[in-house]
Amino acid sequence: MADILDIEEVEGCGARVRGLDVRKASDTQIDAIREAVFRRGVVFFEDQQLAPDDQIAFARRIAPIVVNRYFPKTERWPEIAKVEKTEGQKSNIGGGWHTDHSYDTAPAMGSVLLAVRTPPAGGDTLFADMYAAYEALPDATKTRIAGLRARHASAHVFGEGGAYAATDHAVLSGHADTPEAVHPVVIIHPGSGRKALFVNPAFTREILGLAPDESSALLGELYAHAIQPRFVARYAWRPGTMAVWDNRCTWHFAMNDYHGHYRLMHRITLDGVPLAA
Ligand code: SIN
Repeated sequence: MADILDIEEVEGCGARVRGLDVRKASDTQIDAIREAVFRRGVVFFEDQQLAPDDQIAFARRIAPIVVNRYFPKTERWPEIAKVEKTEGQKSNIGGGWHTDHSYDTAPAMGSVLLAVRTPPAGGDTLFADMYAAYEALPDATKTRIAGLRARHASAHVFGEGGAYAATDHAVLSGHADTPEAVHPVVIIHPGSGRKALFVNPAFTREILGLAPDESSALLGELYAHAIQPRFVARYAWRPGTMAVWDNRCTWHFAMNDYHGHYRLMHRITLDGVPLAA
């Protein structure tokens, strides 16, 4: 299917699709993009000329849209969340390794993120491949984590006194609607059928059935393993760059290295399904 797209795999994680105006993608190309997202975890497109309605229409062709509870919305399009850092702000959104919405019973499938304004330098995003991270684990670790389940939560980030509360993105905290969910530590990706590691430093709170020290130690071991450079790729943005990523098989990390400059991204969240081992 990939031959109907000019697609180049990126070492570490993801792929780039060249020469496609996503507004004109055929149904077969949309299917190939979805397949590439499931296989590579994230797919980047350059030089897209997308008005908000175009981004929404494209996202809907990949998967149904779900509206994020916490992020500020664009004024006219509730489907589009603003991931914004102004010239005066010091903190950014997503500036640590995470996967979005893992605290939901049916975690979001992924996101369609469009760069609207970018700083002159910096503001890249790192992506890490959780298929590759899982596959490279020692057999003993794979055996140890098989069948384990972990609790994911959102209150410590988006709730009253959550992680954003003490920052200049405090508008992201103080929410009363703060779900939790339990998922297998190793999931079978619903689109590819491959195993992926499904814990993340931002939202996973504990592995069930283990003593707190043991749970923290095991999560720390898995996190250190998963962010090795061999599983990670770094992507730069300029206005018109768009990414589609899959939360079930990647983590991402928005770099915060452009103080004094403005960065605005438009994010659409794609709906997902409950995950199974
Ligand atoms: C996010 O974590 O959703 C934002 C990623 C970015 O701004 O690069």
